[in-house]
Amino acid sequence: MTLKILLLGKNGQVGWELQRSLSVLGELVALDRHSPDLCGDLANLQGLAQTVRTVRPDVIVNAAAHTAVDKAESEPELARTLNALAPGVLAQEAAKLGALLVHYSTDYVFDGSGTRPWTETDTPAPLGVYGQTKLEGERLIAATCPRHLIFRTSWVYGARGSNFAKTMLRLAQERERLTVIDDQTGAPTGADLLADVTAHAIRSVLQQPQQAGLYHLAAGGETSWHGYAKYVIAQAQTAQSTIKIVATAVDPVSTSAFPTPARRPHNSRLDTAKLQAAFGLSLPPWQQGVARMLTEIL
Ligand SMILES: NC(=O)c1ccc[n+]([C@@H]2O[C@H](COP(=O)([O-])OP(=O)(O)OC[C@H]3O[C@@H](n4cnc5c(N)ncnc54)[C@H](OP(=O)(O)O)[C@@H]3O)[C@@H](O)[C@H]2O)c1
Repeated sequence: MTLKILLLGKNGQVGWELQRSLSVLGELVALDRHSPDLCGDLANLQGLAQTVRTVRPDVIVNAAAHTAVDKAESEPELARTLNALAPGVLAQEAAKLGALLVHYSTDYVFDGSGTRPWTETDTPAPLGVYGQTKLEGERLIAATCPRHLIFRTSWVYGARGSNFAKTMLRLAQERERLTVIDDQTGAPTGADLLADVTAHAIRSVLQQPQQAGLYHLAAGGETSWHGYAKYVIAQAQTAQSTIKIVATAVDPVSTSAFPTPARRPHNSRLDTAKLQAAFGLSLPPWQQGVARMLTEIL
């Protein structure tokens, strides 16, 4: 029997890569918020429910979200609708159909204290609206739809769309010195890695339903934004690139030097042991994916 998969948020960083990795699993119905025939707008809760009832998928993958962390502070209702209520509706409709719901969450559900990597059993304590609404979304799914996979990830980048690495490359062409935050630690994680692990985990959980649940999913190792920036610029300088990098210095600076509307966690390390053991996977070091992405864009 061919699997029918409904993908929401098809043009985001992760959604774009999911279009590729999910296509081998079965029939893919991929939507974004402007899709003409079926509603893919997470702000339209009734339309979203109707879409699930019409498509009747075996698997729903939700890659759409309100991801603008600072903007969420000034539009908390919209953030809650997209990050909590819409996943709640998807969970209700998935449960009615007996479908599997796959969803993404974030290291921002934690307060960033300490230096130990967070596990799935650690107590969340979000610092801002984005993290609060993402946490509420996780909880609505867990309470409504037992057949779910929720992947908490961090520092996502993709070759498509804008991201931190591309910003650093641009600034390195314009400036001789850069200052970059060095007191937030995490693992840059490729949208392509997330999509490939998602496809693998879907296949696995359909065979072994007891694997459903919450997992931390990030690339291996850790760095700061400062370390990430230095790596990106060093790679660009050694590549046979047409991009002229003039940055000679990347200076570390504390988070307090760049005030933002939303507070961000200092410790974004995610412990991925549960996922690696459950699905027999080995998550590559973050540098591997970043180097690959740079090869594509340089
Ligand atoms: N980016 C990160 O660093 C990060 C870190 C941890 C977890 N995550 C989680 O990972 C998942 C994927 O994130 P991403 O990095 O791929 O984010 P992204 O590139 O910002 O993509 C989010 C997508 O959601 C769409 N969207 C926004 N409002 C919508 C609406 N009302 N209806 C339908 N779609 C809507 C956006 O469409 P438009 O382009 O049209 O706005 C965009 O395509 C999210 O659940 C996010 O919370 C991300």
